[in-house]
Amino acid sequence: MVTTSERPRFEISIGLIQHLDEALLCWKNLVGDQSDHDDRISCDSLTITEQKQFLRNVILDGRLIVAMNSIEEMIGIATISIDLNMLDNSSSIWNISDVWVHPSYRRQGIATKLVDMCEKIAESRGANEIRLHVYASNQPAAMMYGRLGYSTIVRTMSRKLD
Ligand SMILES: CC(C)(COP(=O)(O)OP(=O)(O)OC[C@H]1O[C@@H](n2cnc3c(N)ncnc32)[C@H](O)[C@@H]1OP(=O)(O)O)[C@@H](O)C(=O)NCCC(=O)NCCS
Repeated sequence: MVTTSERPRFEISIGLIQHLDEALLCWKNLVGDQSDHDDRISCDSLTITEQKQFLRNVILDGRLIVAMNSIEEMIGIATISIDLNMLDNSSSIWNISDVWVHPSYRRQGIATKLVDMCEKIAESRGANEIRLHVYASNQPAAMMYGRLGYSTIVRTMSRKLD
């Protein structure tokens, strides 16, 4: 378990199955925040059972990272996964996704610590590069990743059809 300074206000750890319900709430909040940037995104696309199954699989595979406050409430999540590509069988590129921090706890370095733990776990599982997606309109996330050394290698272009 990774802690902050002498009096930790939060702890970062790998999510356990007992975290499933709280993680689901965080993930739903993330989807709500992401829908501000992409109107095709909605929790309603999946049933509650499907949402839980998705997160259960991530947890059982050791790919959910959580931030807990001093009274053991979940205040942030992030997930990692192999960046699959049919032209690359190296499994050496991993994705970080689903990074979300409770609004009351933002700007305290929690997402930075979540990303750091994600990078370490991905590296321990064979990653030599991390990739992730950020909406162009998501300034806080873009600022954070830029500060953490991430740079743009792909642009997704879009045009609405009449
Ligand atoms: C983006 C998000 C995860 C950042 O979480 P956080 O815990 O507040 O991030 P940190 O405290 O680690 O911030 C690290 C740095 O990122 C930048 N940053 C973070 N939020 C910012 C904001 N609102 N405006 C400008 N810069 C910001 C700053 O440089 C910050 O360092 P500083 O506070 O010393 O200036 C959080 O705002 C969030 O959950 N947003 C909704 C979900 C989301 O967009 N997730 C990202 C999906 S790609």
